[in-house]
Amino acid sequence: IEPTYQLMSQWAANHVIGLINAASPTAEKPFIIGLPTGSSPLGMYKALIKAYEEGIVSFRNVVTFNMDEYVSLPETHPESYHSFMYENFFNHIDCPKENIHILNGNADDLDAECRNYEKMILGYGGIDLFIGGIGADGHIAFNEPGSSLSSRTRMKTLTSDTRIANSRFFGGDPANVPQYALTVGVGTVMDAREVMVLCCGHNKTHALQAAIEGPVTHMWTVSALQMHPHGIIVCDDASCDEL
Ligand code: GLP
Repeated sequence: IEPTYQLMSQWAANHVIGLINAASPTAEKPFIIGLPTGSSPLGMYKALIKAYEEGIVSFRNVVTFNMDEYVSLPETHPESYHSFMYENFFNHIDCPKENIHILNGNADDLDAECRNYEKMILGYGGIDLFIGGIGADGHIAFNEPGSSLSSRTRMKTLTSDTRIANSRFFGGDPANVPQYALTVGVGTVMDAREVMVLCCGHNKTHALQAAIEGPVTHMWTVSALQMHPHGIIVCDDASCDEL
């Protein structure tokens, strides 16, 4: 728990930098990282870019897998997770484009796209560090309440709560938020060697309480983290009011 958003973001960035540098990744043995979108990780991305510019970390031998992507939203749409990731992170670091993986929500065969994503992750020997955020309804990636805790990458229907929460990025109208998304499963996240979840702000207090103090349940999918041997939640004071 850090007192402010800025300090929690810096803590998270330092942790990522520490793990990458300790692994001393090479082209043959890259560091594999799972990445989130959303407003929560923005401060961490800024701190990582700064560290890259200062020569403290390099992403040359880092391979990335993003958590999720909207279905049927053009990649070039400003709110696609492709656009988000390039604008807020990839355009500013030295991670080679061929190392970057983001689900294609416009693939002809979405099931094949999801199966192939899982295969690619396995092909790299699994994910070293999966970073995630928390939805106000306790979702991790787009694993909405009711998702199986052993789920794999697949398409999910977004709940109206999530569409309302994300409508702030789509002109304020939930009807403009895509109905479906591709997302890694809870099982996919839990298979990572380490999982770090970022949580900030007053609107996350109930989700954080459910994640930490509630039972492990598919109704608050982030609660699965309680079962992970190396799970960390990095949060600010504001999100801890119900703990
Ligand atoms: C979206 C993403 C999640 C993210 C959540 C929280 O629903 N699919 O991966 O964790 O938003 O977003 P924010 O950090 O903006 O609150």
